[in-house]
Amino acid sequence: MEIEVQPIEKSKIDSIDFENLAFGRVMSDYMFECDYKDGAWQKPVIKPYGSISLEPSARVLHYGQAVFEGMKAYKDDNGDLFLFRPKDNWERINKSSVRLAMPEFPEEYFMEGLKQLVNLEKDWVKPGFGNALYLRPVVFATEAALSASPASEYKFMIICSPVKSYFSGEVRVVIANKYSRSASGGVGYAKAAGNYAAQFYPQKLAHEKGYQQVVFTDAATHKYVEEGGAMNVFFRIGDKILTAPTSERILDGITRKSLIQLMKDNGYDVQVREIEVEEIKEASRKGELKEIFTSGTAAVISPILGFEHQDEKFELPKIEDPFASKLKKMLLDIQYNKVEDKYGWRVKIS
Ligand SMILES: Cc1ncc(COP(=O)(O)O)c(C=O)c1O
Repeated sequence: MEIEVQPIEKSKIDSIDFENLAFGRVMSDYMFECDYKDGAWQKPVIKPYGSISLEPSARVLHYGQAVFEGMKAYKDDNGDLFLFRPKDNWERINKSSVRLAMPEFPEEYFMEGLKQLVNLEKDWVKPGFGNALYLRPVVFATEAALSASPASEYKFMIICSPVKSYFSGEVRVVIANKYSRSASGGVGYAKAAGNYAAQFYPQKLAHEKGYQQVVFTDAATHKYVEEGGAMNVFFRIGDKILTAPTSERILDGITRKSLIQLMKDNGYDVQVREIEVEEIKEASRKGELKEIFTSGTAAVISPILGFEHQDEKFELPKIEDPFASKLKKMLLDIQYNKVEDKYGWRVKIS
């Protein structure tokens, strides 16, 4: 499938300081766009990155019909380009779309769109651990109409942003006991735009108290740890690593499931089960809680240094050789084509 490319006049790449990139601020030269109307996805196009026009009555602005994905293109030391488990992102965006009564996007359009776009932008992908081209597929309701019902017109886009190794600084988290990001029967498992809007306020309150993130608990009882606002979470007690099972309330993170597989295959004692907040607090009091780390495409793995729950503060010990670093290296080695990929996760695109 050959996608029409509308050429740019001049690349902006020479004006970009690749050493000092704030996450998601700089966009590359091109974007992929495909409209849905008359019951079908129309011919996709790759065109210069730029503004789009929407009517103020576009349904997305009123009813939030929008879902997205987050993925990366990696370059190895030979200049070859790779995606990581892109089919999983395609499946997940469609799962998200179905939940928001939006049309599914064809696999061929998704894969070819990514491949041809990233190939055009190959100079924007720098080699070296941490460097990548962050890819943001997004679908939203464009139809101009104010009745509260699903739209009949949508736009699917992929935009690209070069990123450096994501270092979020020292991260301490609040374990939520009032606010929730999702509830049973809701949209927690979908990457729906509204899920992020809904957690900005609790996150703002956490910031005001000096914490960087919120780890959400189950909406019904607030007794069980679920996930962060944009990342899954792991706890290491002794040599045991715990993470909550995915559910209709938790996003099925691609990093999370890759890490679980790597842990299983490398002899780690990983347990996917419900985790009581009390268990974590008790382990911390006894000095058995060794590590907390989050997982997600943007930062891969980030260590958490401490947490607060109901105004009680906990600090994690400083440890040599954390599991989080070993696991991160294992995953990066696969993503950057440093080791054999026995899982078939890496997809070469040029
Ligand atoms: C709510 C939520 N949980 C988990 C993740 C991690 O998912 P992945 O590893 O697929 O990036 C993300 C980020 O994409 C997220 O938004």
